[in-house]
Amino acid sequence: MDVKARIEELKALIKSYNEAYYDQDSPLISDVEWDALYQELVALETEYPEYMTDDSPTQKVGGTVSSAFQKVTHRHPMLSLSNAFNADDLRAFDERLKKEFPDVTYVLEPKVDGLAASLRYDAGILQVGVTRGDGTVGEDVTHNIRTIKTVPSRLSEPLYLEVRGEVYLSKKRFQAINESREKAGKNLFKNPRNAAAGTMRQLDAELSRQRGLDIVLYSLGSVDDLKGLTHAETLEKMQALGLPAQSHATVHKTIDSVIQGVQDFEENRHQFPFEIDGAVIKVNERSMYDDIGYTAKSPKWAIAYKFKAEEVETEVLDVTFQVGRTGQITPVAHLAPVSVAGTMVSKATLHNEEYLQEKDLHIHDQVLIKKAGDIIPEVIRTLPDKRPVNAITVAFPTHCPVCESPLKKEPHEADWFCVNAMCEAQLKEKLEHFVSRNAMNIETFGEKLVEKLYTEKLVQTIPDIYRLHTHKDALMGFEGFAEKSVDTLLANIELSKANPLEDLIFGLGIRHVGKTSSKNLARHMQTMDALMQATEDTLIALDDVGEVMAKTIVDFFSEPDNQVLIQTLKSLGLRMDTDGVQSTYHAKFSGKSFVLTGTLSVPRSQAAQAIEERGGKVTSSVSKKTDVVLAGEEAGSKQQKAIDLGVQVIDEATFNGWLGESHE
Ligand code: IVH
Repeated sequence: MDVKARIEELKALIKSYNEAYYDQDSPLISDVEWDALYQELVALETEYPEYMTDDSPTQKVGGTVSSAFQKVTHRHPMLSLSNAFNADDLRAFDERLKKEFPDVTYVLEPKVDGLAASLRYDAGILQVGVTRGDGTVGEDVTHNIRTIKTVPSRLSEPLYLEVRGEVYLSKKRFQAINESREKAGKNLFKNPRNAAAGTMRQLDAELSRQRGLDIVLYSLGSVDDLKGLTHAETLEKMQALGLPAQSHATVHKTIDSVIQGVQDFEENRHQFPFEIDGAVIKVNERSMYDDIGYTAKSPKWAIAYKFKAEEVETEVLDVTFQVGRTGQITPVAHLAPVSVAGTMVSKATLHNEEYLQEKDLHIHDQVLIKKAGDIIPEVIRTLPDKRPVNAITVAFPTHCPVCESPLKKEPHEADWFCVNAMCEAQLKEKLEHFVSRNAMNIETFGEKLVEKLYTEKLVQTIPDIYRLHTHKDALMGFEGFAEKSVDTLLANIELSKANPLEDLIFGLGIRHVGKTSSKNLARHMQTMDALMQATEDTLIALDDVGEVMAKTIVDFFSEPDNQVLIQTLKSLGLRMDTDGVQSTYHAKFSGKSFVLTGTLSVPRSQAAQAIEERGGKVTSSVSKKTDVVLAGEEAGSKQQKAIDLGVQVIDEATFNGWLGESHE
């Protein structure tokens, strides 16, 4: 691939990973992998500046701003830091600085892995708390900041200050939150940072209070009654004012001493009550900051040292193949238990056949493992030099390990599937999923009961659940099943018949259709019949439904077995529609794809928001799939293309008419 193409590819990759990380609080790759891509892009752009563009992620601070919160423009942008990955990088930073500013000293602090926020105090009273957002504009999260016990609403002196720091969840709180989410059948947060970010996005402060956010403050912002102090003195003063300022900061005269301090942090990183992903080195003399200067993204007087992900060696004891609800076969490595990043690890997913081959993993091999995003165990590589003579090659099965039917794989997919709809492993997983909290939420119907009812042949298909009342006597014969618990179970099953459509859609376990998509599908389609009849095009036009999901939905409902399943559930009395009317139904917008072009009298983002709020979506280029082109003044080629393709073109007056017409 040529350099230009690689730069474009890196830009696109990093942008999509940034979006997942900053906007959806759901990283797709580990920080270490992200850093590698980013560094590659920086290196290529440095070597080939002619390919550098303003929209490159290297020129921007990540993250965008959600429309659910009040926007607040930072008086001074909240910058990011450039990174160092080894001692040499730190020495280079020191040399650059010392050339011009030979007298600088340094402050070393742990780099807390949370999200940046800014708090403003006027005359010592807390006024507002704002997220970093895109660095220029953040979100007003004062209600959530106020729930942080260590944040005083009044300082001990009536000063005007903007303080900046990192909001985080302690490892303890993170674990407690995930434990209760697991019990409730909710998706787990990947790491404390995501949990903290998700919590800051809550509109309900009570939820943030329960989650137990914390903050560590590490600098002053634009409003500053403490000019003249060094950074270390500033931190001390902040503490004296009652603020939770960084308490692990140390002052160093030489870079060697800094490097020693960084190593100490890295060795002891797991002793901190919060996750730290590195160390931050700052010039102590704040009076020199302006002279030292800034790049577009970061100050030149500070640098972040990123720790390497902790890698631990262990032995592969076995590899098994799990059959998921959709029939997907996942190889799993069973490991000699080891502690990684503070928790015991005894299993790691090997994802699929390709991954297994790429790692050339044998049973009894020594492997290096790490925690991706410091939470999910992952095999980094095998150590073939240490392979014992009794190592066993792992062959990917050709047949399902449970029902023994031949496995299948689509030409361009990575996963093998057991496609036997009657495969016991899948049927049990499907039943478990159907009754689970996020789906039909049938209380007291847990994993063990599914297993028992399945083996006793009382429940082998979803409709059997709703016929269970005819087996009351058999149920009462179960060990530990008194009449009362049987009655409760049967009543819970009966109650679930009235659940709204989204629960049933999710419960069916259609591939790629998650909880949020199920909700959207129910909201747009209103009835199961409408969903069953929807074409791929109709589905693709909806929010959150891509081509892959649309195809799996259509495929699912074109299976005669699945049609019979729905008819049977209908006749058993399950509800096939959703709660009330579509709350934001707008005939002209809902499910429609818009393209905006030309100059409008309002900012395009505002028009786009109005469309999205009414269930439409906005895309950038005109194609056959576009439903409407909104053409402002001086609309050019897009309008022409719409006309050529026979796509409806409207002007702004018509658009405004539609907005007025649409109803809640
Ligand atoms: S100083 C001009 N100090 O790391 C930026 N940042 O990668 C001043 N962070 O955006 C930041 N601990 O969110 C600083 N002790 C610390 C920090 C810290 C965590 C975060 C912060 C910043 C990011 C930079």
